[in-house]
Amino acid sequence: MRRFQEVSGVAFAACAAEALLAVTLAVGSGLADDKIQPPADGTLKGVADFQSIGEPSARSRALFTEAAKVITGPRCINCHPATRSPTQGDDRHPHRPPIQAGESGMGVAGLNCHSCHRFKNTSLPGSRVGSIPGAEHWLLAPASMAWQGLTLGEICRQLKDPARNGGRSLADIHKHMSTDHLVAWAWQPGAGRRPAPGTQEVFGALIEAWIATGAECPS
Ligand code: HEC
Ligand code: HEC
Repeated sequence: MRRFQEVSGVAFAACAAEALLAVTLAVGSGLADDKIQPPADGTLKGVADFQSIGEPSARSRALFTEAAKVITGPRCINCHPATRSPTQGDDRHPHRPPIQAGESGMGVAGLNCHSCHRFKNTSLPGSRVGSIPGAEHWLLAPASMAWQGLTLGEICRQLKDPARNGGRSLADIHKHMSTDHLVAWAWQPGAGRRPAPGTQEVFGALIEAWIATGAECPS
C-alpha cells in the first residue's frame, strides 16, 4: 500500500481511480475541515440505565432513541444516504471524488468502491484524511435503507418494515446490528475518524431490549 502514501499524485496516477484519489487527497485540504461539527457525545447508555422507566412502550422508545446515537451517527449514516452517493466525514459532506453508487451500491464499471476501499482500513500517514476506510464488501446501503433526512420515528418504522429492510424479521435486525461486519467497522473506522459511541455489544443489547419491549418507535 506504499503507493497510497505518496500524496503528490505524480507517483501513482496509474489508473483512473488512483488518479482521482490523489486529487481527492491533495486538493480541498482544509475546506470541509472548518465545517466539522464539535464532537458528538461519545458515550452510549446501557440497557440497565432504562430499567427505571416502568411503562414498557415508553422504555422501548427511550431504548431506541439511545441506540439512534449510533444509527444516526456519521459512521453509519454516511453509508445510508438519501441519494445514491455516499457522504463523508462528521459533517456528511458529499463524497470526494463524486461517486455514483448506482443500483448495485458498488459504483459504476471502472470506478467502483473497491478501486479505493480495500478489505480493511488503509492508513495514509500524514495525509488530510488519515486513512481510507475499508472492510469486506464495502458498498452503499440500498435506496430503501436510506436514513439521511428522515426523523428518528421514520428511521425506526423503516427498519421494522420487511418491504424496505431487506426482508428481515426483528430478530434478523438484531442479529445484523450486533454481528454485521460493516456495522462493526463503525467502531474501528481507521485513523482520522471518530468511532461510533459505546461498543457494538452495548448497542446490540439496546436493540435487543428495544425489541423485547415491543419495538416501539418515537413519534
Ligand atoms: C460501508 C457502508 C455501510 C456502513 C458503514 C454501514 N452500513 Fe448498514 N448497510 C449497508 C449495506 C450495503 C446494507 C445492505 C446489506 C444487506 O441487506 O444485507 C446495509 C444494511 C443495514 C441494515 C439492515 C436493513 C435496514 O433496515 O436498514 C441495518 C440495520 C444497518 N445496515 C445498520 C447499520 C448501522 C447501525 C451502521 C453503523 C453502526 C451501518 N449500518 C453502517 C452498508 C453500510
Ligand atoms: C477514488 C477513490 C474512492 C472511490 C472510488 C470510493 N471512495 Fe469512498 N472514500 C474515499 C476516501 C479517500 C475516503 C476518506 C475520505 C475522508 O475521510 O475524508 C472515502 C470515504 C468514504 C466514506 C466515509 C466514511 C466516513 O464515515 O467518514 C464512505 C461512506 C464511502 N467512502 C463510501 C464509498 C462507496 C459506497 C463507494 C462506492 C460506491 C466509494 N466510497 C468509492 C475514496 C473513494
